[in-house]
Amino acid sequence: MSVSKKLFVKTYGCQMNVYDSERMIETMGQVGYVETIIPEDADMILLNTCHIREKAAEKIYSELGRLKGLKSIRPNLKVAVAGCVAQAEGEEIMRRQPMVDMVVGPQSYHRLAELENAASEGKKIIDIDFPDEDKFDFLGARSKAKRAPSAFLTVQEGCDKFCAFCVVPYTRGAESSRPLKRILIEAEDLVERGVRDITLLGQNVNAYHGKGSLGQDISLAALIWELDKLAGLERIRYTTSHPNDMDDDLIEAHGNCSKLMPYLHLPVQSGSDSILKRMNRSHTVQSYIDLIVKIRKARPDILISGDFIVGFPEESDKDFDATLDLIRRVGYGQAYSFKYSTRPGTPASERDQIDESIKTKRLHKLQDLIAEQQKSLQDAMVGRNLPVLLEKPTRFDGQLVGKSQYLHAVHVDAPTSMIGSIQHVHITHSNRNSLTGNLCQVY
Ligand code: SAH
Ligand code: SF4
Ligand code: F3S
Repeated sequence: MSVSKKLFVKTYGCQMNVYDSERMIETMGQVGYVETIIPEDADMILLNTCHIREKAAEKIYSELGRLKGLKSIRPNLKVAVAGCVAQAEGEEIMRRQPMVDMVVGPQSYHRLAELENAASEGKKIIDIDFPDEDKFDFLGARSKAKRAPSAFLTVQEGCDKFCAFCVVPYTRGAESSRPLKRILIEAEDLVERGVRDITLLGQNVNAYHGKGSLGQDISLAALIWELDKLAGLERIRYTTSHPNDMDDDLIEAHGNCSKLMPYLHLPVQSGSDSILKRMNRSHTVQSYIDLIVKIRKARPDILISGDFIVGFPEESDKDFDATLDLIRRVGYGQAYSFKYSTRPGTPASERDQIDESIKTKRLHKLQDLIAEQQKSLQDAMVGRNLPVLLEKPTRFDGQLVGKSQYLHAVHVDAPTSMIGSIQHVHITHSNRNSLTGNLCQVY
């Protein structure tokens, strides 16, 4: 192996990109690259990008603009654009910023080392195929380095739902699920390296339909029950789910599987049936509410999180009020909300658009309501003893931060030897975005 070279990676977008970046760093590790956090030191800079909203995509071009300066003083520096902007814009990236050496889509990153080799010979590379081979089969063994207590694990990728606003089916391709065996091997490896809490990832993770060793179909619930058997793994989560794929077995697992955490991200997008229809969401307000009732029956304390889009084409005041109404009925512990952003190639981009100032007003109103709900659910934790997975030190001496079962950040005075363990914490304060407490038992 040659003398080590340095790789700087900047990750945008969703958790799957975080996972993909880890895998790309490991892949490049096999050809002698080590990660750096200083771009000026790097031999290769990789931007792992997101195309979900216009702003996300534009950020990449401003970042490339800044990197152009660095490349002009360090001509041997290689610049790679990976992820969903790479997939969606391909050659356009090289046209707008010719100093880019490589453009690699989300389904081709297992070829990154090979592409880097070709780029070293001065070639410009664009690989945005959806190859027949599965990238996960070609990524090789994962590194054996010790890890933080929480990790992501991709089990499903892509989407066949084609919501009218969304680029994901175009950037990530058709839905596909990894085989059970590979997931279990990867989970075992993560646990050996110190992971206690695994979040299973997929664009439609609850549409997971992998194959077992006998060729039988495995649902997400079945996968969770398999992982439940894994000694050393203490917590299981999954994200992101679609309301239409929330089957009874999965709901039942929330009631009976003690490792499955009481937290569910279940985006609804809008509380108006006519907007949902135009979004091609294929669920209604009532079917979503019925689902929430069913899930809460199985697991009464579950914390529900959601995604909302305001200002979708033709959204009236009445439609928007219906969304606020749905939020009041559900009671969210957490949510992401966005102004509708037109995405090239999606059906909704061709429709009559809502004025930007109306979108802004609606977004603020919705976010105020969510913030109120979120804070009151967080405040309700004060006085309770919560099991907290301690993750890392904070900037305050002697203090650690960890996660409750509901994914609240919890600060507590505790020795670093407790990192990676679950401790019961008596919650004393609810802060802006976190909780503070004391260890229930000091050893
Ligand atoms: N697969 C997930 C969502 C992936 S995208 C699901 O189906 O819920 C994450 C979120 O980004 C979406 O839930 C949606 O709220 C938001 N989003 C997607 N496209 C958008 C667009 N064009 N404008 C604004 N927000 C968008
Ligand atoms: Fe996008 Fe809809 Fe698929 Fe989610 S379900 S990734 S919002 S198309
Ligand atoms: Fe963005 Fe692609 Fe994820 S568009 S949200 S990085 S799937």
